[in-house]
Amino acid sequence: MRHYSLAAPAKINLHLEILGDRADGYHELVMVLQGVSLADRIEIQAGSTQDIHFYCEHPDVPLGKENIAYQAAQLMCREYSQAYAQYGGLEISIEKHIPVAAGLAGGSTDAAAVLVGINLLWKLGLTQPELQTLANQLGSDIPFCLEGGTALALGRGEELSPLAGLDNMTVILAKHRNLYVSTAWAYQQYRQEYGESYLQQPETLEMGRKQAHSADLVSAIAQEDHTQIGQLLHNDLEKVVFPSYPQVEALKLAFQEQEEVLGSLMSGSGPTVFALCPSSTVAKEVVEAVKKQMNDPTVEFWITELTSTGIEVA
Ligand code: C5P
Repeated sequence: MRHYSLAAPAKINLHLEILGDRADGYHELVMVLQGVSLADRIEIQAGSTQDIHFYCEHPDVPLGKENIAYQAAQLMCREYSQAYAQYGGLEISIEKHIPVAAGLAGGSTDAAAVLVGINLLWKLGLTQPELQTLANQLGSDIPFCLEGGTALALGRGEELSPLAGLDNMTVILAKHRNLYVSTAWAYQQYRQEYGESYLQQPETLEMGRKQAHSADLVSAIAQEDHTQIGQLLHNDLEKVVFPSYPQVEALKLAFQEQEEVLGSLMSGSGPTVFALCPSSTVAKEVVEAVKKQMNDPTVEFWITELTSTGIEVA
């Protein structure tokens, strides 16, 4: 029986800027997204019954419709009902390595892997733009997760322009165990506090895109200037997440105190904070120093690398 095993990398935001409201109720964003090597493993094969069977041992991962990867499988079954009838049901299992609900697009990358896996399993021959259209229907981060690498993302996050790949940087990810921040809550909170200054008209939004503060970071990436990249990291959602979750800000401050850290930022809507380091040796030293300084056993750390690959058959 044919069987596919896929690697689904996590992402961090090097830049997240909120411009205003979109007609569809989402926020209009300017982001710089970056894939990291820390990845989930997704196994897909035809099932024995005409159904979707979904497995994951991680206690925090829902196994039904609330899971975006499950929704990705449902979408494929709906869109390609003939292939679904021909090949039978699906067995999908997820080996979780990316922290759950952490601002690292863990669910989104699993969903992207499900799209790619079913395309292969059912021999649909969908092109990357066709997969992107499906990804876009499911969630804001999924189009990026399909491609991976380094990209400028506009709109809800689905209008992607690839940037020169960054490498030679190690990333530390850190988060408090059992601390979760709802993405919907973070955006809602931001709207409450800053909604008055939101851009709304298509012309002003277009102008906002042109004047976005990501431009300097984009040129630092083009020049591979790691020092500048570290200094230009920016995430608007820190303004609402930090006051409600001061422990997340404390983590960022602890990283910033380390001389060799190039820069530190909350990823997405948090609560993960990442720190960019020039090498894995430095990253290990920084983790030890921050552990000692924070003296909080609930903080977990991962050391990973920047990666230029998206969803890949493992
Ligand atoms: O698209 P995704 O499921 O990742 O978004 C989760 C929630 O975050 C949305 O329901 C919405 O409330 C908020 N969001 C937003 N604008 C975006 C992305 C997300 O308001 N561009």
